[in-house]
Amino acid sequence: MTPQDEDAFVMSKKSINKKIKLPLNRIINGNCIDIMMSFPDNSIDVIFADPPYNLQLKNELSRPDSSKVNGVIEDWDRFKSFKEYDQFTKEWMAEAQRILKPEGTIWVIGSYHNIFRVGNIMQNLGYWILNDIIWHKSNPMPNFKGTRFTNAHETIIWASKNHNSKYNFNYHAMKSLNEGTQMRSDWHLPICSGNERLKDMDGNKIHSTQKPEALLYRVLLSSSKKDDIVLDPFFGTGTTGAVAKKLGRNFIGIEREVSYINAAKKRIREIISTGDEFLSTTVSKKAQKRVPFGSLVENGLIKPGSVLRGPKNLKSRKFMATVRADGSLLMNGDSGSIHQMSAKIQGKESSNGWTFWHVERKGKYELIDNLRSEFLNVDKIKNN
Ligand SMILES: C[S@@+](CC[C@H](N)C(=O)[O-])C[C@H]1O[C@@H](n2cnc3c(N)ncnc32)[C@H](O)[C@@H]1O
Repeated sequence: MTPQDEDAFVMSKKSINKKIKLPLNRIINGNCIDIMMSFPDNSIDVIFADPPYNLQLKNELSRPDSSKVNGVIEDWDRFKSFKEYDQFTKEWMAEAQRILKPEGTIWVIGSYHNIFRVGNIMQNLGYWILNDIIWHKSNPMPNFKGTRFTNAHETIIWASKNHNSKYNFNYHAMKSLNEGTQMRSDWHLPICSGNERLKDMDGNKIHSTQKPEALLYRVLLSSSKKDDIVLDPFFGTGTTGAVAKKLGRNFIGIEREVSYINAAKKRIREIISTGDEFLSTTVSKKAQKRVPFGSLVENGLIKPGSVLRGPKNLKSRKFMATVRADGSLLMNGDSGSIHQMSAKIQGKESSNGWTFWHVERKGKYELIDNLRSEFLNVDKIKNN
């Protein structure tokens, strides 16, 4: 980011009315509905929105020792009625839907105060709800008065632009993050505290609802790719921007309060991006780049005339085939692709030759699929 990029800018009324070039990696000061109106249709990959909760707190909250609790009492959370809140929600959500790419998704976080109204409006607008994530706070604030259950979770609605969207979901990356088990919809994460919590000179929290970076990490890793554009229309202190920068995604922040913008700018400036070489994530075998077996021959990883054998457990590797110059296999006068020949041996209609055939390397038989992975990695490095 250049120093110029780091400056938040105020959109003039004139620029709001015409569609602008997207302000990547910048924070825009203003009302998110107006600002989003200036963005082109179908231009954003992922939206993370942490809108006002409409908590309607009338009195200050205090702990049993009479110390003050930092509730959400700021102006940005004040609406005269549910009707006014719903109207605001409808307007920003309609704009968000217009600018979301067809394969993009939106995440909206909220509490019991607003999430049911938000979900209802989303469905009425034609968003298609994919999941409701429960963010289970491992260290929630107690219910000081002892009049209700401890409120220990928030809900995040994850939705696609409409029912027909072919949305992005990095299923395998999530499974890896969860040690090989499918990631579930209940996320156990602590609230934002410690060094991550932004404080002013007097040690007071800069923002009453700063979200933990771990939450955004999971959101962005699951639904976006490197260099994607992530919009947060309620940017606050920039948690979305900080994690987007860490993960090599572009962000756009919109925020109405300048004091939060200043804190966010400083915070994001200090973030170090993860090196490109570590940003790729696990993908399904199907989604991997297709490599014909012939490419391995062409590139010298397997030489014409090499002997391939079946798996160890198949009667002492008795099945043998010879690789020809064009990547086909020759076996007992018969020839065909690695897949056709492995299917033939096993008497099957079809078979994956990559996970059947082995080739000798340094005195050991190795699966040709390993050589394919090696080839893909070399290819990737060459192209970077
Ligand atoms: C719940 S907080 C978001 C906190 C943020 N996720 C973080 O981690 O710091 C909502 C933010 O939206 C901002 N906001 C409220 N209404 C807005 C509007 N109409 N346009 C832009 N920002 C708005 C508020 O100033 C507040 O900072």
